[in-house]
Amino acid sequence: MGGDNTNSGRRRFLTAATSVVGAVGVGFVLVPFISSMQPSAKARAAGAPVRADISKLEPGQMIRVKWRGKPVWLVRRTEKMLEVLPTLDTTLRDPESLESIQPPYAQNEFRSIKPEYLVTVGICTHLGCSPTYRPDAGAADLGADWEGGFFCPCHGSKFDLAGRVYKGVPAPTNLVIPPHSYLSETELLIGEDDIEEVV
Ligand code: FES
Repeated sequence: MGGDNTNSGRRRFLTAATSVVGAVGVGFVLVPFISSMQPSAKARAAGAPVRADISKLEPGQMIRVKWRGKPVWLVRRTEKMLEVLPTLDTTLRDPESLESIQPPYAQNEFRSIKPEYLVTVGICTHLGCSPTYRPDAGAADLGADWEGGFFCPCHGSKFDLAGRVYKGVPAPTNLVIPPHSYLSETELLIGEDDIEEVV
């Protein structure tokens, strides 16, 4: 009675969590519970996706959400910001994001699904500090040619408003673009996209 359930549950458990098979005695007791909890346990381990409401995000503003313990930034870029991006290529280390981490749908000059919205992990690719959002083009402390972007105070790395790293700074690659998708015009899902679901 219940043997089949236990066995199939155990198989699933072994597939999902091979690292705990050593605890055989405990495993038999825990399997039914873990199996019934599998989706949320798996989701927690992988870092469940998070929703972000962008309905109140004004042009030029940024909001932060947390995903897998990391800051993720959502910037609503203005028309002017978008116009500047294609003009920066010669000053950037990897303008086409060939050596940077992003989903395929974000490997374009805006590094986004919709040009208006940038979604990026707010962690410097040098040594992991969190850069600051500096949309103020021409800021005195960043130089007259500063076109707005992100500045890392730790060692001075600079990124444009698509998260692309400038030449001549310590950060080796562009900021990471996480998987994401639109649930509606005003809500994003960070950490999950159609591509991930298919895999
Ligand atoms: S950690 Fe950002 S420049 Fe070093």
